[in-house]
Amino acid sequence: MKKILITGGAGFIGSHVVRRFVKKYPQYHIFNLDVLTYAGNLENISDIENELNYTFIKGDIVDAAFVDSLFSEHQFEGVVHLAAESHVDRSITDPMAFVKTNVIGTMNLLNAFKTIWKGDFDGKRFYHISTDEVYGSLGAEGLFTETTAYDPNSPYSASKASSDHFVRAYGETYGMPYVLTNCSNNYGPNHFPEKLIPLFINNIINNKPLPVYGDGNYTRDWLFVEDHAVAIDLVFHDGENHETYNIGGFNEWKNIDLVKLLCRIMDEKLGRVNGTSVKLITYVKDRPGHDLRYAIDASKINTTLGWKPSVTFEQGLEKTIDWYLSNEEWLHNVTSGDYQNYYDKQYN
Ligand code: NAD
Ligand code: TYD
Repeated sequence: MKKILITGGAGFIGSHVVRRFVKKYPQYHIFNLDVLTYAGNLENISDIENELNYTFIKGDIVDAAFVDSLFSEHQFEGVVHLAAESHVDRSITDPMAFVKTNVIGTMNLLNAFKTIWKGDFDGKRFYHISTDEVYGSLGAEGLFTETTAYDPNSPYSASKASSDHFVRAYGETYGMPYVLTNCSNNYGPNHFPEKLIPLFINNIINNKPLPVYGDGNYTRDWLFVEDHAVAIDLVFHDGENHETYNIGGFNEWKNIDLVKLLCRIMDEKLGRVNGTSVKLITYVKDRPGHDLRYAIDASKINTTLGWKPSVTFEQGLEKTIDWYLSNEEWLHNVTSGDYQNYYDKQYN
Protein backbone atom coordinates (compact mmCIF):
# COMPACT_ATOMS: atom_id res chain seq x y z
CA MET A 1 0.00 0.00 0.00
CA LYS A 2 1.33 3.41 -0.94
CA LYS A 3 1.76 5.57 2.16
CA ILE A 4 0.49 9.12 1.78
CA LEU A 5 0.87 11.79 4.47
CA ILE A 6 -1.81 14.48 4.64
CA THR A 7 -1.07 17.28 7.12
CA GLY A 8 -3.79 19.39 8.73
CA GLY A 9 -6.45 16.79 7.99
CA ALA A 10 -8.51 17.64 11.07
CA GLY A 11 -9.01 21.20 9.84
CA PHE A 12 -11.56 22.63 7.45
CA ILE A 13 -10.18 21.82 3.97
CA GLY A 14 -7.95 18.99 5.17
CA SER A 15 -10.89 17.01 6.54
CA HIS A 16 -12.60 17.06 3.13
CA VAL A 17 -9.35 16.02 1.43
CA VAL A 18 -8.66 13.18 3.89
CA ARG A 19 -12.19 11.82 3.50
CA ARG A 20 -11.96 11.91 -0.29
CA PHE A 21 -8.58 10.16 -0.38
CA VAL A 22 -9.48 7.50 2.21
CA LYS A 23 -12.73 6.61 0.45
CA LYS A 24 -11.55 6.85 -3.14
CA TYR A 25 -8.11 5.23 -2.88
CA PRO A 26 -8.16 1.92 -0.96
CA GLN A 27 -4.71 1.27 -2.46
CA TYR A 28 -3.31 4.13 -0.34
CA HIS A 29 -2.78 4.21 3.38
CA ILE A 30 -3.60 7.75 4.46
CA PHE A 31 -1.77 9.14 7.49
CA ASN A 32 -3.36 12.30 8.83
CA LEU A 33 -0.87 14.38 10.83
CA ASP A 34 -2.44 17.16 12.86
CA VAL A 35 -1.52 18.83 16.15
CA LEU A 36 -5.18 19.76 16.79
CA THR A 37 -4.96 23.51 17.35
CA TYR A 38 -8.19 25.40 18.04
CA ALA A 39 -8.98 24.88 14.31
CA GLY A 40 -8.35 21.14 14.28
CA ASN A 41 -11.25 18.92 15.26
CA LEU A 42 -11.44 15.14 15.07
CA GLU A 43 -15.24 15.42 14.88
CA ASN A 44 -14.68 16.67 11.31
CA ILE A 45 -13.54 13.21 10.26
CA SER A 46 -15.19 10.92 12.80
CA ASP A 47 -17.02 9.10 9.97
CA ILE A 48 -13.78 7.64 8.59
CA GLU A 49 -11.80 7.06 11.80
CA ASN A 50 -12.23 3.27 11.64
CA GLU A 51 -11.35 2.82 7.97
CA LEU A 52 -8.57 0.26 7.50
CA ASN A 53 -6.53 2.51 5.21
CA TYR A 54 -6.53 5.45 7.65
CA THR A 55 -4.35 6.42 10.61
CA PHE A 56 -4.50 9.62 12.65
CA ILE A 57 -1.27 10.89 14.18
CA LYS A 58 -1.32 13.75 16.65
CA GLY A 59 1.87 15.74 16.23
CA ASP A 60 3.44 19.09 15.51
CA ILE A 61 5.15 19.83 12.18
CA VAL A 62 7.24 22.46 13.97
CA ASP A 63 9.02 19.67 15.86
CA ALA A 64 11.79 18.68 13.42
CA ALA A 65 12.96 15.59 15.35
CA PHE A 66 9.42 14.25 15.49
CA VAL A 67 8.82 14.92 11.77
CA ASP A 68 12.12 13.22 10.86
CA SER A 69 11.32 10.13 12.88
CA LEU A 70 7.82 9.90 11.42
CA PHE A 71 9.18 10.04 7.87
CA SER A 72 11.91 7.52 8.55
CA GLU A 73 9.37 5.13 10.13
CA HIS A 74 6.79 5.38 7.32
CA GLN A 75 8.74 6.39 4.17
CA PHE A 76 5.86 8.48 2.78
CA GLU A 77 5.83 8.47 -1.01
CA GLY A 78 3.39 11.34 -1.24
CA VAL A 79 2.76 14.36 0.95
CA VAL A 80 -0.28 16.63 0.73
CA HIS A 81 0.55 19.54 3.00
CA LEU A 82 -2.35 21.59 4.34
CA ALA A 83 -1.41 22.15 7.99
CA ALA A 84 -1.15 25.85 8.66
CA GLU A 85 -2.22 28.74 10.77
CA SER A 86 -4.85 30.11 8.42
CA HIS A 87 -6.65 33.17 9.79
CA VAL A 88 -5.49 36.66 8.74
CA ASP A 89 -6.87 38.35 11.88
CA ARG A 90 -4.94 35.97 14.15
CA SER A 91 -1.79 36.61 12.11
CA ILE A 92 -2.10 40.31 12.91
CA THR A 93 -2.11 39.66 16.67
CA ASP A 94 0.36 36.73 16.71
CA PRO A 95 2.58 36.69 13.61
CA MET A 96 5.22 34.36 15.10
CA ALA A 97 2.77 31.46 15.33
CA PHE A 98 2.44 31.78 11.55
CA VAL A 99 6.19 31.82 10.97
CA LYS A 100 6.58 28.71 13.12
CA THR A 101 3.90 26.53 11.56
CA ASN A 102 3.71 27.89 8.02
CA VAL A 103 7.41 28.48 7.36
CA ILE A 104 9.39 26.29 9.77
CA GLY A 105 6.77 23.52 9.73
CA THR A 106 6.89 23.41 5.93
CA MET A 107 10.70 23.40 6.00
CA ASN A 108 10.68 20.45 8.39
CA LEU A 109 8.45 18.47 6.02
CA LEU A 110 10.60 19.37 3.00
CA ASN A 111 13.79 18.37 4.83
CA ALA A 112 12.36 15.08 6.05
CA PHE A 113 11.07 14.23 2.56
CA LYS A 114 14.45 15.09 1.02
CA THR A 115 16.32 13.05 3.65
CA ILE A 116 14.36 9.82 3.28
CA TRP A 117 14.46 9.74 -0.53
CA LYS A 118 18.09 10.90 -0.90
CA GLY A 119 17.55 12.15 -4.46
CA ASP A 120 15.68 9.01 -5.58
CA PHE A 121 12.42 10.82 -6.18
CA ASP A 122 10.97 8.55 -8.85
CA GLY A 123 7.20 8.22 -8.31
CA LYS A 124 7.28 10.57 -5.30
CA ARG A 125 5.42 13.84 -4.90
CA PHE A 126 5.28 16.75 -2.43
CA TYR A 127 2.10 18.79 -2.82
CA HIS A 128 2.02 22.17 -1.12
CA ILE A 129 -1.40 23.81 -0.66
CA SER A 130 -1.30 27.59 -0.70
CA THR A 131 -3.52 30.62 -1.06
CA ASP A 132 -4.21 33.38 -3.59
CA GLU A 133 -3.41 35.88 -0.82
CA VAL A 134 0.32 35.54 -1.64
CA TYR A 135 -0.34 37.70 -4.73
CA GLY A 136 -1.45 40.67 -2.59
CA SER A 137 -4.38 42.83 -3.55
CA LEU A 138 -6.00 43.60 -6.91
CA GLY A 139 -7.61 46.90 -7.85
CA ALA A 140 -11.03 46.95 -9.49
CA GLU A 141 -9.76 45.13 -12.60
CA GLY A 142 -7.65 42.07 -13.42
CA LEU A 143 -7.16 38.53 -12.13
CA PHE A 144 -4.34 36.65 -10.42
CA THR A 145 -2.58 34.25 -12.80
CA GLU A 146 0.18 31.75 -12.02
CA THR A 147 2.75 34.33 -13.14
CA THR A 148 1.47 37.24 -11.04
CA ALA A 149 4.33 38.47 -8.83
CA TYR A 150 4.08 37.66 -5.13
CA ASP A 151 3.20 40.73 -3.05
CA PRO A 152 1.81 39.56 0.30
CA ASN A 153 0.38 42.13 2.72
CA SER A 154 -0.55 40.25 5.91
CA PRO A 155 1.68 38.17 8.19
CA TYR A 156 -0.48 35.18 7.12
CA SER A 157 0.07 35.71 3.40
CA ALA A 158 3.75 36.57 3.94
CA SER A 159 4.26 33.27 5.78
CA LYS A 160 2.46 31.32 3.04
CA ALA A 161 4.49 33.14 0.35
CA SER A 162 7.68 32.24 2.19
CA SER A 163 6.73 28.56 2.33
CA ASP A 164 5.81 28.59 -1.38
CA HIS A 165 9.26 30.00 -2.20
CA PHE A 166 10.97 27.26 -0.19
CA VAL A 167 8.97 24.54 -1.94
CA ARG A 168 10.02 25.91 -5.33
CA ALA A 169 13.61 26.34 -4.16
CA TYR A 170 13.75 22.69 -3.03
CA GLY A 171 12.41 21.71 -6.44
CA GLU A 172 15.10 23.68 -8.26
CA THR A 173 17.99 22.97 -5.91
CA TYR A 174 17.44 19.35 -4.91
CA GLY A 175 15.24 18.19 -7.79
CA MET A 176 12.40 17.54 -5.37
CA PRO A 177 9.18 16.71 -7.23
CA TYR A 178 6.53 19.16 -6.14
CA VAL A 179 3.21 20.63 -7.21
CA LEU A 180 1.78 23.81 -5.72
CA THR A 181 -1.69 25.33 -5.81
CA ASN A 182 -2.92 28.78 -4.84
CA CYS A 183 -6.63 28.76 -4.09
CA SER A 184 -9.20 31.45 -3.41
CA ASN A 185 -11.44 31.69 -0.32
CA ASN A 186 -13.16 28.42 0.54
CA TYR A 187 -16.50 27.98 2.27
CA GLY A 188 -18.52 24.94 3.27
CA PRO A 189 -19.20 22.47 6.09
CA ASN A 190 -16.73 22.13 9.00
CA HIS A 191 -15.38 25.67 8.67
CA PHE A 192 -14.33 27.10 12.03
CA PRO A 193 -16.60 30.08 12.79
CA GLU A 194 -13.90 32.76 12.76
CA LYS A 195 -13.88 33.34 8.97
CA LEU A 196 -16.58 35.47 7.36
CA ILE A 197 -19.17 32.92 6.21
CA PRO A 198 -19.29 30.50 9.18
CA LEU A 199 -18.93 33.34 11.70
CA PHE A 200 -21.87 35.17 10.20
CA ILE A 201 -24.00 32.00 9.93
CA ASN A 202 -23.38 31.36 13.64
CA ASN A 203 -24.15 34.97 14.57
CA ILE A 204 -27.37 35.00 12.53
CA ILE A 205 -28.51 31.79 14.26
CA ASN A 206 -27.81 33.46 17.62
CA ASN A 207 -29.17 36.91 16.66
CA LYS A 208 -25.76 38.50 17.26
CA PRO A 209 -24.34 41.53 15.37
CA LEU A 210 -22.65 40.83 12.00
CA PRO A 211 -19.35 42.76 12.18
CA VAL A 212 -18.60 43.98 8.63
CA TYR A 213 -15.08 45.43 8.43
CA GLY A 214 -14.76 48.94 6.98
CA ASP A 215 -17.33 49.80 4.33
CA GLY A 216 -17.83 46.16 3.29
CA ASN A 217 -16.70 46.90 -0.26
CA TYR A 218 -13.96 44.26 -0.23
CA THR A 219 -14.13 41.50 -2.80
CA ARG A 220 -13.31 37.80 -2.48
CA ASP A 221 -13.64 34.89 -4.93
CA TRP A 222 -15.47 32.05 -3.16
CA LEU A 223 -15.11 28.31 -3.82
CA PHE A 224 -17.07 25.44 -2.25
CA VAL A 225 -14.65 23.33 -0.21
CA GLU A 226 -15.56 20.01 -1.85
CA ASP A 227 -14.70 21.49 -5.24
CA HIS A 228 -11.30 22.43 -3.80
CA ALA A 229 -10.87 18.83 -2.60
CA VAL A 230 -11.63 17.57 -6.13
CA ALA A 231 -9.03 19.98 -7.55
CA ILE A 232 -6.45 18.82 -4.98
CA ASP A 233 -7.08 15.19 -5.94
CA LEU A 234 -6.61 16.03 -9.63
CA VAL A 235 -3.45 18.06 -9.16
CA PHE A 236 -1.91 15.45 -6.83
CA HIS A 237 -2.45 12.72 -9.42
CA ASP A 238 -2.27 14.48 -12.79
CA GLY A 239 -0.56 17.83 -12.18
CA GLU A 240 2.75 18.45 -13.95
CA ASN A 241 5.83 18.20 -11.82
CA HIS A 242 7.21 21.64 -10.71
CA GLU A 243 4.01 23.39 -11.79
CA THR A 244 1.75 25.83 -10.00
CA TYR A 245 -2.02 25.93 -10.53
CA ASN A 246 -4.42 28.64 -9.45
CA ILE A 247 -7.78 27.38 -8.18
CA GLY A 248 -10.77 29.69 -7.93
CA GLY A 249 -14.53 29.79 -7.98
CA PHE A 250 -15.12 32.16 -10.92
CA ASN A 251 -17.29 33.72 -8.23
CA GLU A 252 -16.49 37.22 -7.00
CA TRP A 253 -18.58 38.83 -4.28
CA LYS A 254 -18.30 42.10 -2.41
CA ASN A 255 -18.51 41.26 1.29
CA ILE A 256 -21.59 43.38 1.86
CA ASP A 257 -23.50 41.79 -1.03
CA LEU A 258 -22.53 38.31 0.16
CA VAL A 259 -23.66 39.11 3.71
CA LYS A 260 -27.02 40.39 2.44
CA LEU A 261 -27.52 37.19 0.39
CA LEU A 262 -26.62 35.10 3.44
CA CYS A 263 -29.12 37.04 5.56
CA ARG A 264 -31.87 36.47 2.99
CA ILE A 265 -31.28 32.69 2.77
CA MET A 266 -30.96 32.39 6.56
CA ASP A 267 -34.26 34.24 7.12
CA GLU A 268 -35.95 31.72 4.83
CA LYS A 269 -34.28 28.70 6.49
CA LEU A 270 -34.98 29.93 10.01
CA GLY A 271 -38.57 30.88 9.20
CA ARG A 272 -37.90 34.53 10.00
CA VAL A 273 -39.55 37.45 8.24
CA ASN A 274 -37.42 38.50 5.25
CA GLY A 275 -35.30 41.49 6.34
CA THR A 276 -34.83 40.32 9.95
CA SER A 277 -31.18 39.18 9.78
CA VAL A 278 -29.96 42.07 7.63
CA LYS A 279 -30.68 44.37 10.59
CA LEU A 280 -27.84 42.60 12.45
CA ILE A 281 -25.25 44.11 10.06
CA THR A 282 -22.89 46.35 12.03
CA TYR A 283 -20.02 48.21 10.40
CA VAL A 284 -16.91 47.92 12.56
CA LYS A 285 -13.29 49.14 12.47
CA ASP A 286 -11.46 47.92 9.38
CA ARG A 287 -8.81 45.21 9.41
CA PRO A 288 -5.30 46.76 9.16
CA GLY A 289 -3.71 46.15 5.74
CA HIS A 290 -7.04 44.86 4.42
CA ASP A 291 -6.62 43.56 0.84
CA LEU A 292 -9.22 45.16 -1.42
CA ARG A 293 -9.85 42.40 -3.89
CA TYR A 294 -8.82 38.83 -4.72
CA ALA A 295 -9.86 37.15 -7.95
CA ILE A 296 -8.38 34.07 -9.58
CA ASP A 297 -7.88 33.21 -13.22
CA ALA A 298 -8.35 29.43 -12.99
CA SER A 299 -8.05 28.80 -16.73
CA LYS A 300 -4.81 26.78 -16.45
CA ILE A 301 -6.28 24.05 -14.23
CA ASN A 302 -9.46 24.21 -16.29
CA THR A 303 -7.79 23.70 -19.66
CA THR A 304 -4.98 21.35 -18.62
CA LEU A 305 -6.75 19.17 -16.04
CA GLY A 306 -10.40 19.77 -16.94
CA TRP A 307 -11.34 21.05 -13.47
CA LYS A 308 -14.14 23.49 -12.81
CA PRO A 309 -16.43 24.14 -9.83
CA SER A 310 -19.42 21.77 -9.71
CA VAL A 311 -21.84 23.95 -7.76
CA THR A 312 -23.04 27.54 -8.09
CA PHE A 313 -22.51 29.87 -5.16
CA GLU A 314 -26.21 29.76 -4.27
CA GLN A 315 -26.15 25.92 -4.24
CA GLY A 316 -22.94 25.79 -2.22
CA LEU A 317 -24.16 28.37 0.26
CA GLU A 318 -27.41 26.51 0.75
CA LYS A 319 -25.55 23.21 1.37
CA THR A 320 -23.30 25.04 3.83
CA ILE A 321 -26.14 26.68 5.75
CA ASP A 322 -28.06 23.38 5.88
CA TRP A 323 -24.97 21.70 7.30
CA TYR A 324 -24.60 24.29 10.08
CA LEU A 325 -28.30 24.15 10.91
CA SER A 326 -28.23 20.37 11.23
CA ASN A 327 -24.92 20.24 13.14
CA GLU A 328 -25.78 22.34 16.17
CA GLU A 329 -23.70 20.15 18.46
CA TRP A 330 -20.57 20.64 16.32
CA LEU A 331 -21.17 24.39 16.37
CA HIS A 332 -21.80 24.36 20.11
CA ASN A 333 -18.62 22.35 20.79
CA VAL A 334 -16.34 24.62 18.74
CA THR A 335 -17.81 27.84 20.13
CA SER A 336 -17.54 26.92 23.79
CA GLY A 337 -14.29 27.31 25.76
CA ASP A 338 -11.60 29.54 24.25
CA TYR A 339 -13.76 30.74 21.37
CA GLN A 340 -15.50 33.34 23.50
CA ASN A 341 -12.14 34.82 24.63
CA TYR A 342 -11.03 35.11 21.00
CA TYR A 343 -14.34 36.68 20.03
CA ASP A 344 -14.25 39.25 22.83
CA LYS A 345 -10.67 40.25 22.02
CA GLN A 346 -11.34 40.54 18.29
CA TYR A 347 -14.72 42.26 18.29
CA ASN A 348 -15.32 43.97 21.65
P1 NAD B 1 -7.67 25.34 9.19
O1 NAD B 1 -7.13 26.42 10.08
O2 NAD B 1 -9.13 25.03 9.24
O3 NAD B 1 -6.92 23.97 9.51
C1 NAD B 1 -5.54 23.89 9.70
C2 NAD B 1 -5.23 22.54 10.33
O4 NAD B 1 -3.81 22.47 10.52
C3 NAD B 1 -5.88 22.35 11.70
O5 NAD B 1 -6.45 21.06 11.80
C4 NAD B 1 -4.70 22.48 12.67
O6 NAD B 1 -4.87 21.73 13.86
C5 NAD B 1 -3.55 21.98 11.82
N1 NAD B 1 -2.26 22.54 12.28
C6 NAD B 1 -2.00 23.85 12.56
N2 NAD B 1 -0.73 23.97 13.00
C7 NAD B 1 -0.18 22.72 12.97
C8 NAD B 1 1.08 22.21 13.31
N3 NAD B 1 2.06 23.01 13.79
N4 NAD B 1 1.32 20.87 13.17
C9 NAD B 1 0.33 20.05 12.71
N5 NAD B 1 -0.90 20.49 12.40
C10 NAD B 1 -1.16 21.81 12.52
O7 NAD B 1 -7.18 25.72 7.74
P2 NAD B 1 -7.89 25.48 6.32
O8 NAD B 1 -8.78 26.61 6.06
O9 NAD B 1 -8.40 24.11 6.27
O10 NAD B 1 -6.63 25.64 5.37
C11 NAD B 1 -5.83 24.51 5.00
C12 NAD B 1 -4.74 24.96 4.06
O11 NAD B 1 -5.32 25.55 2.90
C13 NAD B 1 -3.81 26.01 4.65
O12 NAD B 1 -2.50 25.73 4.24
C14 NAD B 1 -4.30 27.32 4.06
O13 NAD B 1 -3.27 28.26 3.94
C15 NAD B 1 -4.79 26.85 2.70
N6 NAD B 1 -5.87 27.65 2.10
C16 NAD B 1 -7.00 27.93 2.81
C17 NAD B 1 -8.03 28.65 2.20
C18 NAD B 1 -9.31 28.96 2.94
O14 NAD B 1 -10.15 29.71 2.41
N7 NAD B 1 -9.56 28.39 4.10
C19 NAD B 1 -7.89 29.10 0.89
C20 NAD B 1 -6.71 28.80 0.19
C21 NAD B 1 -5.71 28.06 0.81
P1 TYD C 1 -11.95 35.97 5.95
O1 TYD C 1 -13.06 34.99 5.94
O2 TYD C 1 -11.22 36.22 7.23
O3 TYD C 1 -10.95 35.54 4.80
P2 TYD C 1 -9.68 36.36 4.15
O4 TYD C 1 -9.36 37.52 4.99
O5 TYD C 1 -8.62 35.32 4.20
O6 TYD C 1 -10.12 36.72 2.78
O7 TYD C 1 -12.52 37.36 5.45
C1 TYD C 1 -13.19 37.48 4.21
C2 TYD C 1 -13.57 38.92 4.02
O8 TYD C 1 -14.53 39.28 5.03
C3 TYD C 1 -12.40 39.88 4.22
O9 TYD C 1 -12.54 40.97 3.33
C4 TYD C 1 -12.56 40.36 5.65
C5 TYD C 1 -14.06 40.36 5.85
N1 TYD C 1 -14.52 40.09 7.24
C6 TYD C 1 -15.43 40.97 7.84
O10 TYD C 1 -15.87 41.97 7.24
N2 TYD C 1 -15.83 40.71 9.12
C7 TYD C 1 -15.36 39.64 9.82
O11 TYD C 1 -15.76 39.46 11.01
C8 TYD C 1 -14.46 38.75 9.18
C9 TYD C 1 -13.93 37.54 9.91
C10 TYD C 1 -14.06 39.01 7.88
